[in-house]
Amino acid sequence: MKVRISASILDCDFTRLGQELNAVLDAGVDAIHLDIMDGHFVPNLSFGTPIVQAVRRTVSLPIYTHLMVIEPEKMIPRFVSHSDYLIFHIEATSQPENCIAAIRNSGRLPGISLNPDTPVERIIPLLSHLEDVLLMSVFPGFGGQQFIPESLNRITHLAELRRESGLSYTISVDGGVTPANAHDIVRAGADILVAGSAIFRSSSYRETVRALRCLNS
Ligand code: DX5
Ligand code: ZN
Repeated sequence: MKVRISASILDCDFTRLGQELNAVLDAGVDAIHLDIMDGHFVPNLSFGTPIVQAVRRTVSLPIYTHLMVIEPEKMIPRFVSHSDYLIFHIEATSQPENCIAAIRNSGRLPGISLNPDTPVERIIPLLSHLEDVLLMSVFPGFGGQQFIPESLNRITHLAELRRESGLSYTISVDGGVTPANAHDIVRAGADILVAGSAIFRSSSYRETVRALRCLNS
């Protein structure tokens, strides 16, 4: 299946949120990625439900809400009605099964995210319950960081696990994704590329999205 591009709005111009969303829709992205930060799990704050609701009213594309919060089980209910996918961090909870159940019971799709230093093995028992695995290729908290090269081996590992198990979760990669490294990331086994600064700091969103799809190579 061809790679999907998910736009992380963290780096957009929030004074023009509606226009920025329309611009990435026009540029042909496949999904919108919303980064929720609590200042505890990550050393930064971002935005909360008012923005998520506004995005939901504006776009019909799938919305992936990436919860970078401690005890996500407490926050999941606030975000389910405005998201298609709810993704929480395995490092942030002692109750991943409950989080998955809460998301499923709300009719939404669960995913788990892993920090760059969390072994992929940690989520093996949960893989059969997931729709998406979001591999962080930077330490979460900020846009505009450099892709960690070791992430490529982790993507391949996760793709091998999927093949061996016959499961069908998607593999998303988040952090430092650019047109320069997109080809390697897709070749390693990624299905979804999350891109923030690469899109929103570029002069042509359309050209950047096209380049991220590796159509120019
Ligand atoms: C990092 C966030 C990412 C980030 C991506 O904590 O989870 O989604 O916004 O931004 P770029 O593409 O600039 O690395
Ligand atoms: Zn993210």
